[in-house]
Order: sequence, then C-alpha cells, then structure tokens
Amino acid sequence: MTILVTGGAGYIGSHTCVELLENGYDVVVADNLCNSKREALERVKRITGQNLCFYETDVRDEAKMDEIFQKHNVECVIHFAGLKAVGESVAKPLAYYDNNLNTTLTLCRVMQKHGVKRFVFSSSATVYSAGNPMPLTESSSTGGCSNPYGWTKYMCEQILRDAAAAASAATASEGWSVLLLRYFNPIGAHESGLIGEDPLGIPNNLLPYIAQTAVGRRDKLPVYGNDYNTPDGTGVRDYLHVVDLAKGHVAAVKRAVQSPCVEAINLGTGEGVSVLQMIEAFKRVSGAAIPYEIKDRRPGDLAVCWAEPSKAVQWLGWRAQKTLDDMCADTWRWQKQNPNGYPL
Ligand code: NAD
Ligand code: UFG
Repeated sequence: MTILVTGGAGYIGSHTCVELLENGYDVVVADNLCNSKREALERVKRITGQNLCFYETDVRDEAKMDEIFQKHNVECVIHFAGLKAVGESVAKPLAYYDNNLNTTLTLCRVMQKHGVKRFVFSSSATVYSAGNPMPLTESSSTGGCSNPYGWTKYMCEQILRDAAAAASAATASEGWSVLLLRYFNPIGAHESGLIGEDPLGIPNNLLPYIAQTAVGRRDKLPVYGNDYNTPDGTGVRDYLHVVDLAKGHVAAVKRAVQSPCVEAINLGTGEGVSVLQMIEAFKRVSGAAIPYEIKDRRPGDLAVCWAEPSKAVQWLGWRAQKTLDDMCADTWRWQKQNPNGYPL
C-alpha cells in the first residue's frame, strides 16, 4: 500500500517514514525542504535499507500534486507539511494561514479528484482552549487559540470534518477516514542517532535547547518562569518519544483502512513532566552539565498541559511505550553524533 507523506523530510515525518517502511508500506514524500534537509531522507533509507520516492515540491502546487497522484496509487495521505513555530506565527500570520490551510485544501481537492479517502492529519494539543481541567480529553473544549498557528490547526480540523461529511453525503460508496492526531510534546530521536530534530537557528522548544546547551552550542538554558502553580513552579508538559509518535501514525493508517471514521485522537503519554524535572533527567542520562537561568514567563505559555491518552488505545490500539530516560538518551545520542544537525 502506498502512503503519501507530506513534510516527510521533517522531524516527525522522517521518523514516520522509517516506521512505515519497516511495516512494509511504499512511501512517497512531498516536501519543499523549507524547514528540513534532503539528508534526513538519505538517512531514513540508511536506517531501513529501503527506498522511498521523494518529490521536492510545495504541497500547494496543485498541478504537481495531481501529477504525483496520477503516477502513484496513493491509498492514504499523512499530512505533516506545515509551518509550526508559535512565535513566528504571531509575527507572520498570513504566511501561516496560507501555508497550513492551503496545503490541506489542495490535498483535499486532489484526493477528491483521485478518489483517495484516507487522511491522517498532524494536529496539536494547541487546539484545546486555555482553562480546561487536566488531563485533556478529546471532548475538552477547543478554540480560543492564543496564536495563529493554533488557529490553523483548529481550522484544518474543521475543513477535514466538513470535507469528509460532504464526501459521505455525496456518494453511496465508502466515506472518508479522517484521523485528527493531536500531538502533545514530541521529543527524542531514532535510537540509531541518525535522524532527529534539527531546528534552524535558536531553538524555540525545550528539548533542542537543553541538548544544544549540553553539547556546548548554547551557554545557558532559559527557564521561562518558576512561579507557576505547579509542584516546582515550572511549566508541566506531556512529552512523548517521536518514535512512539511515528508508530501512532502507522496505527492510524491501519485504522483508516479498516472502515470510514472521523475522529480526533490525543497522542501523549498521560504523564506531566516539569522543566526542572526534564533538566534533571537529561543531566542524569547524559552526564553533561546544563547551566540554566530563570527568566520571566514566556507570553502565551500555559502552566500545565497533559493528555488523557485512552482514546488512542481504544481506537488505534496504540499507547506510548518509551520512558523519559529513553527520550533523553536518544536526544543526546542524536545531538552528540550531529552537534550541528544534518550537513547541508
Ligand atoms: P518540521 O518543520 O520538522 O516538518 C515539517 C515539514 O514540512 C518540513 O520538512 C518542511 O520543509 C515541510 N513543509 C512545510 N511547508 C510545506 C509546504 N507548503 N509544502 C511542502 N512541504 C512543506 O515539523 P515537525 O515537528 O516534524 O511537525 C510536523 C507536523 O506536526 C507539523 O504540521 C506540525 O505543525 C505538527 N505538530 C508538531 C509538533 C511538534 O512539537 N513538533 C506538535 C504538534 C503538531
Ligand atoms: N521552555 C523553557 N525554556 C525554553 C523552551 C521552553 O523553559 O528554552 C519551557 C516552556 O516555557 C514550557 C516547556 O518548556 O513550559 C515546553 O515548551 P516547548 O516550547 O518545548 O513546548 P510547548 O508546550 O510550548 O509547545 C509545543 C509545540 C507547539 C505545540 C504544543 C502542543 O512547540 O507547536 O507543544 O503540542 F502546539
């Protein structure tokens, strides 16, 4: 079975390509490399000993996407391609709405044209409204997003629900399968140390910043606030291993093939970890020093965010397996082997 993976050269996409290839799927990647390098896909091939088909293209290029669907018998789309930096989305909202909405709309149109009915979407815990009690379930309230990035995910979920409803109303044959996967905080790297997260410039996210501090690329980790209403005052998140997350996508493809459905599903561990707990775990596992300093709270940050993960068990037969130590050890291996990320 052939899976189209948009954004497959990126952090989560490359790990998902590995799991798909190892599960016997044929993989076609469409990525414009705006936030990734071709080398990631070379390494996917090295890890798996298998080939994949790569198109360097913008997913908004409808003619090119049409050509890809003509050439390959795509049976399911996993849509990772998108812009994802929360702060940047506040400064450049139009670029975010254009990229994230128009990639999704283009895919829906091309899928409709070619009769492809299975869509696995990279959504995010950021679609949940602030003020929900923890843990977040799929029926916690959504919307009221604090930044344009969050709104793009919220809007894409709605676009996909509406497209699926229209498709099933219009046809007597099988309806669409749409799985809206709401990721919590993916971290870690493949255990080979060959692929991992390679952010451009100063990292926005906690783990790449910790890893770059541990390896000596950054002087000090800023800890954004120690006066939250949490056990040690620092922010608490639900971190999950990117390989677990990648396996969640294989489970989602299998579920999409079984029968039509439209479901939002949390992918998280259900465990909250604070910034200081993460620093301690990384120090213990790596043996490296991680100097840090307490800074003001980062605007828009929540105190706590973690998942109620049981719907994924019920719907996908998936649960996160890897521990916090695995996440730290694998991040560290990737960072040590590739202190400056992928070569150009
Ligand atoms: P990433 O930036 O590493 O990967 C995204 C990939 O999409 C990149 O390779 C980029 O070059 C490509 N891309 C972007 N716009 C494109 C376009 N118009 N056409 C073709 N390719 C395009 O990000 P990631 O961390 O792997 O995230 C993948 C998806 O998961 C994103 O949609 C992101 O919003 C979502 N997500 C990520 C996180 C996280 O913490 N990493 C959390 C929740 C949701
Ligand atoms: N933090 C620091 N220092 C840093 C970076 C982060 O203290 O240098 C803290 C933050 O304040 C927060 C925690 O570490 O308490 C996690 O922050 P991240 O930036 O790593 O992750 P977020 O939870 O803010 O956001 C991430 C993605 C979003 C996604 C969200 C939910 O960046 O795209 O998870 O999935 F929407």
